[in-house]
Amino acid sequence: MKYHLLIFTFLSAAILSGCYYDNEEDLYQYVQQEDCTFTSATYSAEILPILTTHCIRCHRNGREDGNVNLEGYANAKVYADNGSLYGSANHEPGYSVMPTSGVKIPFCQLEQIRLWIADGAPNN
Ligand code: HEC
Repeated sequence: MKYHLLIFTFLSAAILSGCYYDNEEDLYQYVQQEDCTFTSATYSAEILPILTTHCIRCHRNGREDGNVNLEGYANAKVYADNGSLYGSANHEPGYSVMPTSGVKIPFCQLEQIRLWIADGAPNN
């Protein structure tokens, strides 16, 4: 009985805190994952926020892990063009798995990166 109560308490806490911490950004990402209907993506509106959220802390001016800097358009463009940005984020053979945690970024964000690169990775 106590055990059930414990599980109930834990689940309630998990559910409640789940709701409590919802913010616009999380919800937006959730909607994106549920309904990925993008046909194009721009550097400023989609790619920059994705890199900022998942990659920049290790790949920026002053901390260039693996000698890779993704800060700013010109730097990101290099890795977009040579295939390693998408290849590593999509965990493709021949590339290091990124982020290093091994947890892929959400599918829709990968799609946006793919679409942006397919467009020639413009500074838009
Ligand atoms: C916790 C730190 C960390 C995060 C977060 C991170 N990286 Fe890396 N990244 C590294 C390290 C360390 C290396 C070099 C070692 C290696 O290649 O495994 C690296 C290497 C790379 C390389 C070169 C890999 C290759 O095969 O040529 C690319 C490209 C890259 N990261 C892109 C990204 C992208 C894109 C993201 C976000 C989706 C990201 N990284 C997130 C630490 C990180």
